[in-house]
Amino acid sequence: MSVSIKTTQEVEKMRVAGRLTSEVLDYIGPYVKAGVTTNKLDELCHDLIVNVQQGIPAPLNYAPSGHNPYPKSICTSINHQICHGVPSDKVLKNGDIVNLDITVIKDGYHGDSSRMFFVGEPSIQAKRLCEITYQSLWRGIRVVKAGAYLGDIGHAIQSFVEPLGYSVVREFCGHGIGARFHEEPQVLHYGKPKTGMRLESGMVFTIEPMINAGKKDIKQLGDGWTIVTKDHSLSAQYEHTLLVTDTGFEVLTVSDGCPPPPNA
Ligand code: MF3
Ligand code: CO
Ligand code: CO
Repeated sequence: MSVSIKTTQEVEKMRVAGRLTSEVLDYIGPYVKAGVTTNKLDELCHDLIVNVQQGIPAPLNYAPSGHNPYPKSICTSINHQICHGVPSDKVLKNGDIVNLDITVIKDGYHGDSSRMFFVGEPSIQAKRLCEITYQSLWRGIRVVKAGAYLGDIGHAIQSFVEPLGYSVVREFCGHGIGARFHEEPQVLHYGKPKTGMRLESGMVFTIEPMINAGKKDIKQLGDGWTIVTKDHSLSAQYEHTLLVTDTGFEVLTVSDGCPPPPNA
């Protein structure tokens, strides 16, 4: 098990990749409306990344072992879909909540970020799930610092959401990231304080909690990618890419339009 420590030059490239990733999310927000297909959102993001940013959409043809190559450039996960939803001709409708997960490669380095988007006016419960999920991401982010433990992050997230009646998905986690999409370490969104690896300055990884309104159990759809809640309850996710520093953290997936850190 080895976690790379990024050089100053690598960190600078990851700042660029991270900013571009966040700018894709800024760009696509206004298009997330009733009547649009997830294929259209995929096409718009693909074209921005390739033609304007001159980057590469990392998901396209991504083929980790045991998977068929991912066929699209972004992930679009609607309502009870947890993650890796594959864009299609499905039309978004009023009240849907949608996670858009973007990974841009620029100059050989990856940025990875996702946010929830509202189609029209979702239910109070749906909006609250998204709010709590966003807060849980930041509970995790705020413990990041050289010397902290990996388990501190998972514990901060789990101990925040479970007393509110939500559950944490176990099968997917945050991950180291750099020249490769998924590197060590695995960043679990549940766990115990003072367990696991100690964080070191220069590590770069994502935190990306998947939080369900119902039970934590998941199911994979027949497309080999889309993950849904087994009980069909709503699920939400937010993701940032972070650099560990001596004094804390630097969020790399930032842009003018990214939502501000929560007060809670
Ligand atoms: N972006 C996802 C993550 O946060 C991974 C998507 S893999 C794909 O790790 F192939 F589905 F795109
Ligand atoms: Co990720
Ligand atoms: Co992602």
